[in-house]
Formats: sequence, structure tokens, C-alpha cells
Amino acid sequence: MKLAFLALVATKLTGDPCLQHNKDHNNVPCLTPPTHSKTVATLYEPADGKIIFGAWVETEAASTVGPITLGGDTPSAFNTRLGQNAGVFHMSQSIPLAISPFDQTQQTAPLNLLETTKTDAILFLTIYPSQTGPTPYDLITDRDLQLLAWQLGNVTDPTLSGRRVLLRFGPEMNGNWFAYGEQPTRYVAEYRRLVNAIRAVTKRVSFVWSPNAGNNYPFGVTRVADAELAALDTNKDGVFDSEDDPFSPYWPGEEYVDWVGTSLYWKGDAATGFPTKDNSRTPAGFFELILQGSESLAYAERYKKPLVMSEGGAAFALYQDGPTATVRLPVNAGQLAIQQSFWRSYLNTTLLRQFPRAKMFINFEHQKVHVIFYSYNNPEDPIAGGTRGITRDYRITFDSAVLAGLKTDLAALGAIVQWAGPYIAGYDWLTGSGGPNTATASAATSAPVKTDGPPATTVAVTTSKSDAIRSVTTVLVFGVWLALVF
Ligand SMILES: *[C@@H]1O[C@H](CO)[C@@H](O)[C@H](O)[C@H]1NC(C)=O
Ligand SMILES: *[C@@H]1O[C@H](CO)[C@@H](O)[C@H](O)[C@H]1NC(C)=O
Repeated sequence: MKLAFLALVATKLTGDPCLQHNKDHNNVPCLTPPTHSKTVATLYEPADGKIIFGAWVETEAASTVGPITLGGDTPSAFNTRLGQNAGVFHMSQSIPLAISPFDQTQQTAPLNLLETTKTDAILFLTIYPSQTGPTPYDLITDRDLQLLAWQLGNVTDPTLSGRRVLLRFGPEMNGNWFAYGEQPTRYVAEYRRLVNAIRAVTKRVSFVWSPNAGNNYPFGVTRVADAELAALDTNKDGVFDSEDDPFSPYWPGEEYVDWVGTSLYWKGDAATGFPTKDNSRTPAGFFELILQGSESLAYAERYKKPLVMSEGGAAFALYQDGPTATVRLPVNAGQLAIQQSFWRSYLNTTLLRQFPRAKMFINFEHQKVHVIFYSYNNPEDPIAGGTRGITRDYRITFDSAVLAGLKTDLAALGAIVQWAGPYIAGYDWLTGSGGPNTATASAATSAPVKTDGPPATTVAVTTSKSDAIRSVTTVLVFGVWLALVF
């Protein structure tokens, strides 16, 4: 994750809420609150008026880096801390799969940690093109795609895990901090190739297109591969610069995208200098502010796709100087104020009414030790100049005051938040049929009731055929199940 939007914030705070960038946006209209005219829901989209909240937790093995401990977290532990079952968990793996240096096995995301929640939480799976070489796309073989498609076929198969999956390939592809970044023609070709390979095996995966917010585009890059220059230079003035569109070259086409995603971070006030560490609170209305300034919202509206904050959060800056740090940075506004003002910009009934397509929010539940890491000309982690990386805490379920504040704000949203239901073996999310199977039913002490579909009374007005089938069938299945058990 990486975002360099800060310079824009100051402009936008004082300016017209409907500001356009000073660059060619291919006549994208200035955004106005949408009319929500969609008639068919996207695969795994919650019903209108509902949102899904979840996290990307530190599932890697625990390790100590300077003064902090990273890793060792699980989705179950997140649910326990929150006192609720999150509706989505974000995990990642690479393509080709990374190979373990210990036993040479291929490293998939730790999906077993999702199973141990015993919930039907959605898996949000990011697929990163391998970062091991300068030409990551060249490393993706048909065999790699076949393995991924089979893996997803198995994960989503109702007779196996039966889990709903949102898949995000090559996130933040319009940024320069990943080796696969800023290569739009390659990205689009590989994205389509991957979608086609997966769809040949399963229709149960929902695809997320998730560029970075376009503020500060092209993020200091002056050199690109010649083959990509024509695509990047959208205004055809011969140079690739801030006048070019940060999104359109990367759009894979409507039929390849189910959700529009975005990464969204507050790291402090850019006016105080890079790397930001001033621990100032997130500006009110931040979510809308940034989405209005980026095109994610425009794409979601234009193509009537639901919008997901694929990863995001507000950083509490802890230390400077990366892993060698010992001295704490000034707390200033404090972790609660900084992070609460961030989540209140989306766990926010005004925002949700105004932008009903915004339906899923995933907090980057991580600490991050920034070191000299980004291989390009990125002001965030300058190699020269003596200012080294910042250690930041984006987690909102560890500090007791922050956690209490989050619980209060989530509770205030009530039924708007669609929490995960119990896992029911054999349940088919496409047809709403199947499950609970006999093994599960005989072991259960209380009836498993799916709480995360729309209630049966809303069937007549629901926008999703599969939702409607699902809720009706859930009632039927539940009835049959009761008849069998009692
Ligand atoms: C599950 O994976 C195997 C390969 O490991 C594959 O042969 C099979 O087709 C997959 N099942 C589904 C439903 O995709
Ligand atoms: C809630 O959202 C609205 C619309 O974006 C915004 O104006 C308001 O400032 C937000 N509230 C907070 C506390 O961010």
C-alpha cells in the first residue's frame, strides 16, 4: 500500500468540493451525488443500504523490528477484539506463487485462518504480480493462471469451502512503487488474461479493479518504457506528466470489472514536509474529499459498479528512522482523534446516503515500518537527505481507546453494517441452495441462521436476483433443517 495524495488535500480543503484535476480526464464530468439506478446487483454486493466492514490483518509470523512487533494476528483474533464477525478479510498472494525457502512449498494466502473464524466472511484476495524481477508480467505462465483458477474454483465451490471471493489483481497499478506499475497496456492485457483463465474454471469470483487515487500522478516518474509511452500520454502532447489521465489507460473494460476499488490513506499533513509524521487528525469528510478528487467514484458511477475501499486507514506515526528507531515521535492529535476522524468519514450515514455505491471498507490493520524501500524517486522514503522511513500504526483494534471508539461508532450504524453470518457447509451463494449438510447439522447445538442476506420481506424490492433466491431458499432450507433436527 502506498499513497501520495497529501499535497492535493490542502487544495481541496479550501476549494470547490467538485474540483477537477488540472489534467485531461477525457471529459469525466464534475461529480455530483448519483442517482442509484442500477437494477442488477454485482456478485456478492450487499443489498442497497448495507455496507460490509472488515480488515487486512497481519497474518505473517510474528517478528520484532526495532521497537515494535509485527505479525501474528488472525481474522479470529480481530473478531474477538471487535466483538463482531467482520464481513470481509483481505489477504494476498503473488503470481507466480512465492516459494517457501524452508520447505519449497508454494505460498498461497493463509485461507485456513478464514476457516477458523467459522463465519462466512468474504475473502478479498489480492494477487500481486511477483516483485522478484524487473518484468513481473513476463513471469506469469499459463500454468500459474491455471493453478490460481483451480485454487479459486476449490475455495468458492459450495461442496468445498463455498467462500465468496473478491479478487484484486495488480493493485495501485497506476503508481510507480510496484515493479508492475505504470505499464498500462501490459496491465490491461494481463488483467484480462487472468480474468479469462479464472472464468474458464469458475464463475464464482467477483473482480476488483483498484488503482491508486490519482493525486500527485505520475508520482515523480519521468521515464517509462517506450512501448507504454503512447498509452500513458493520454493528451498526446509527447510527454508523460501530470496532465495525463491516471486511470483510463488502465481500465480493462466494463465486462472485466465487478467492483471499483481504491486505496485510501491519511498519513498526516503534507504541508509539514515529507515523510509526513505530524500526527494531525484526518480532515472531516476525508473519504468524500479524496474520492471526489480521484476517478474511482466516477468509474463506479459511470459503470454502475459498487465501490470498495480495498485498503485504507489513518496512520499514527510512532517512530522515525525505520527499524533502528528508538525515539517516539510527538503524539500531537493522538491516535484516537487521527483514526476516528478517518473512519467517521466513511462510517458515516451522510456519506453512505450520498454515495450508496460505497459498500465495502477494509481497514489496513497493520503497522508498517517504512525503510529505504521504494526503488523510485519517491519523496516518502528519500534515500538521501537524512530523513528515513517512518514507523506507522494503522490498526484500530489494539489501542483500547481507539477500539472503544470504533465499537461505539459501528454500533451506532446498527443494521447498516452487514456482519458475517455463521459458516454453513454446502451453502451455494449463487443459487441460495444447499447446506447445512447433515454432518454440520447434527453437530450444531443451535440453528445456523444466515443473517447476512436481505430479510425475506425485502425480496420484492431487492435488486439482486441471486439475493432474492438466496433469502427465500435460506428460509426454506432453514425450515427443512428444523424439521430434520427437532
Ligand atoms: C480443484 O483443484 C483441482 C486441482 O488441484 C482441480 O482439478 C479441480 O478442477 C478444482 N475444482 C474446481 C471446482 O475448480
Ligand atoms: C460525513 O460525511 C459527509 C459527506 O462526505 C461529510 O461532509 C462529513 O464531514 C463527514 N463527517 C465526518 C466526521 O467526517
